[in-house]
Amino acid sequence: MEKYNSDQLIHKAQKAREFAQAKYSHFKVGAALLTNDGEVFTGCNVESSSYGLTICAERVALTKALSEGRTAFKAIAIVAKDGAFCPPCGACRQLLFDYAPDIDVILTNGKEKQIFKLKELLPHAFDESNLGEK
Ligand code: THU
Repeated sequence: MEKYNSDQLIHKAQKAREFAQAKYSHFKVGAALLTNDGEVFTGCNVESSSYGLTICAERVALTKALSEGRTAFKAIAIVAKDGAFCPPCGACRQLLFDYAPDIDVILTNGKEKQIFKLKELLPHAFDESNLGEK
């Protein structure tokens, strides 16, 4: 049994996607990140004319939550255009892993849903234990 409403989270990601700033790629993405307390932080992709500065929807949602003091998370929903799943990019997988290694990652193509554990999407991840400070 799910411990949260994934359809509701998907709906919030779809609403956030409407704010996407994607004038270069025209690929709009929305994300909704659920905290352990049941709050939701949303994000959309924000592109730059200096393309490499673009920020993905997932990292916008995560940094919004972290910067408001939320540090415990259950799940993230990610949506792009109907008909295609949008798995998180490698950079987003890493940053999510750093702050929310145990979350579920919920994808939809508008019809079907896929739910992964982030750990499945980033096996053998680099994390703070690899910094070898001890
Ligand atoms: N993008 C996201 O926002 N999230 C992803 O997981 C994949 C890619 C954005 C970045 C860029 O604005 C556009 O989608 C095309 O790569």
